[in-house]
Amino acid sequence: MIIFSVESSCDETSCAVIRAEDSRFEILSNVVATQIETHALYGGVVPEIASRAHLEAISAVAERALSDAGITTDSIDAVAVTCAPGLIGALLVGVSFAKSLAYSIGVPLIPVNHIKAHAAAVYAENPDLEYPFYAVIVSGSHTSVYRVTGPTEFVEVGASRDDAAGEAFDKVGRRLGLAYPCGAGMDALAAEGFKNKVTLKLPSPHVKDSTDFSFSGLKTAAVNLIHNERQKLSLGDDDPLPDSLRAEIAAAFTRSVTDGISEVVRSVIAEYGPGAVILAGGVAANSHLRKALSAVAEKNSVPFVTPARDLCGDNAAMIGIQGYFEYLAGVRAGTDLNAYASEEAAEAEGVFESSAVAE
Ligand code: KG4
Ligand code: ZN
Repeated sequence: MIIFSVESSCDETSCAVIRAEDSRFEILSNVVATQIETHALYGGVVPEIASRAHLEAISAVAERALSDAGITTDSIDAVAVTCAPGLIGALLVGVSFAKSLAYSIGVPLIPVNHIKAHAAAVYAENPDLEYPFYAVIVSGSHTSVYRVTGPTEFVEVGASRDDAAGEAFDKVGRRLGLAYPCGAGMDALAAEGFKNKVTLKLPSPHVKDSTDFSFSGLKTAAVNLIHNERQKLSLGDDDPLPDSLRAEIAAAFTRSVTDGISEVVRSVIAEYGPGAVILAGGVAANSHLRKALSAVAEKNSVPFVTPARDLCGDNAAMIGIQGYFEYLAGVRAGTDLNAYASEEAAEAEGVFESSAVAE
């Protein structure tokens, strides 16, 4: 079947066309229009601006997805759309667009949970992944570990109690003078730092005696450390920290993040039994985190799998892949589909239950 999918939960407007047969996927197109430059001015995503930018971009992105795939709307068998979690105004743009498209061509509309879709990106290259596996979803807005027992069956076994890891990378990166979003810059800066001995220590984001994370303490400690080092060196507002110190702080911060996430993954495997470790979400692009989790997987004799980099950040192809499994499970939406800021709010409305609306 051919699925047209739509993603607009944060600051990427994306539409994709995928062919799905027997749980095998071919990505025919995956167009992503990013708003990063617009939001960089403000150092973070401004929700109102994000919604307007989605509205401006979505029709052109959809047309491009169709033309890149070499199809017309006549070939579409179903439309999948992210309806939770995310920024409400941003989600509503994609949801309204997908509703109209599905209604006008007379095909089923499939609501998709953005977080599950991040994990589903892995099936593009690994369709035979065995269950259960552990999906470590690390992005600008989420840091959670799920035990996945089937394509639509996710149980959260660890989560951040406050900020997401990506947000912490962005905040600390900014204080180190990097351009938003700072993930890739922090990755490179930390690599420089790891070339020398890293003696600075920052707190772990792993909440003791739990499988949860807390990134706000680590974030504040890193920001305070930068502030104190600047004071010690009597730096003016526009003076940068010495390069070697910037690199060491980035490395110390990265080490805390990778050690903390590794500890949680080790403890969920110990508690719930073996399973492959899947790393997905925007922060999955981080080379140090990939290395750390791949080492944890190797120690536990389980596979480590991560989607191709272009499928790690927000994109509609992953929405189409998860949409396919939701479709098989009988999940449908009607023209009354709404957008939800949290997974819990969508679940409370029964959005992802089988046959929410009869066809
Ligand atoms: O999944 P995503 O594209 O959007 C959300 O749903 O949040 O994730 C974006 C986040 C940003 O915070 C960005 O700084 C971070 O992913 N990121 C990275 C790297 N590349 C992107 N963080 C650390 N290391 C990277 N290499
Ligand atoms: Zn995301």
